[in-house]
Amino acid sequence: MRPVFVTGTDTDAGKTFCSEALIHALQSHQQSCRVLKPVAAGAEYETTDNEHSQLRNDDARRLLAATGAAITPLTYHQANPFCFAPAIAPHIAAQQVHQRVSVEQLLQHYNELPRDAHWCVVEGAGGWLVPLNEQQSLADFAQALGAPVVLVVGMKLGCLNHALLTVADIERRGLQLAGWIANNTQAEVMPNYAENVATLQQRIAAPLLAEVPFQKQANPAAAATRFDVTSWLNN
Ligand SMILES: Nc1ncnc2c1ncn2[C@@H]1O[C@H](COP(=O)(O)OP(=O)(O)OP(=O)(O)O)[C@@H](O)[C@H]1O
Ligand SMILES: [Mg+2]
Repeated sequence: MRPVFVTGTDTDAGKTFCSEALIHALQSHQQSCRVLKPVAAGAEYETTDNEHSQLRNDDARRLLAATGAAITPLTYHQANPFCFAPAIAPHIAAQQVHQRVSVEQLLQHYNELPRDAHWCVVEGAGGWLVPLNEQQSLADFAQALGAPVVLVVGMKLGCLNHALLTVADIERRGLQLAGWIANNTQAEVMPNYAENVATLQQRIAAPLLAEVPFQKQANPAAAATRFDVTSWLNN
């Protein structure tokens, strides 16, 4: 099982949407996917089978749903081991309930997942350097996994700086940037969209995996047809 870590220029850049699309794209090449949302902040209680109420995060539910029926589904806990109610920075949400999340715990959790899929699509939280605890960040987890990274760029004013800083830190850590995605999360296309994409193409050595237009009804399966993952299949 090969991990791929999906990060974004910011919260709401489209990490979950593009992760779902990436899963559909890989599945269309008979590549099975597992998913991991290691830490989620922003969840509501749901009554589960045994009448217990459990916190459930929408990203984790969407990622799980995208993996389809080709392989035995993960349990919710396997797909999302740390889930906190308030939609705030994860380390602060953890502190509020006297918990601490660490890279070591996340790595152990990852290593205990079933290995029966080709890929494990791991969605970060917020942007690249989101803290996990007082010292570590989610980027440290991506580094511990040694995972190639996919960067989702939410195409809006300010994205050039966010994208280039993120790429610089990914490279500084010796990680592979597998590609980046120009994602349009707003109905109104940003001013000089094409020039912004061209600027990033000039400065980012990794391939532009897809340009995803705004969809009135967000449909990741439709967006998946824009993803060229053929170079991923034999490497
Ligand atoms: N190309 C698109 N067209 C239309 N809507 C989109 C597109 N990309 C993302 N969205 C919508 O924008 C919102 C934010 O996207 P998404 O949840 O994927 O962001 P995220 O980076 O995963 O956010 P978070 O930091 O909360 O995990 C969602 O409502 C999603 O459906
Ligand atoms: Mg998300």
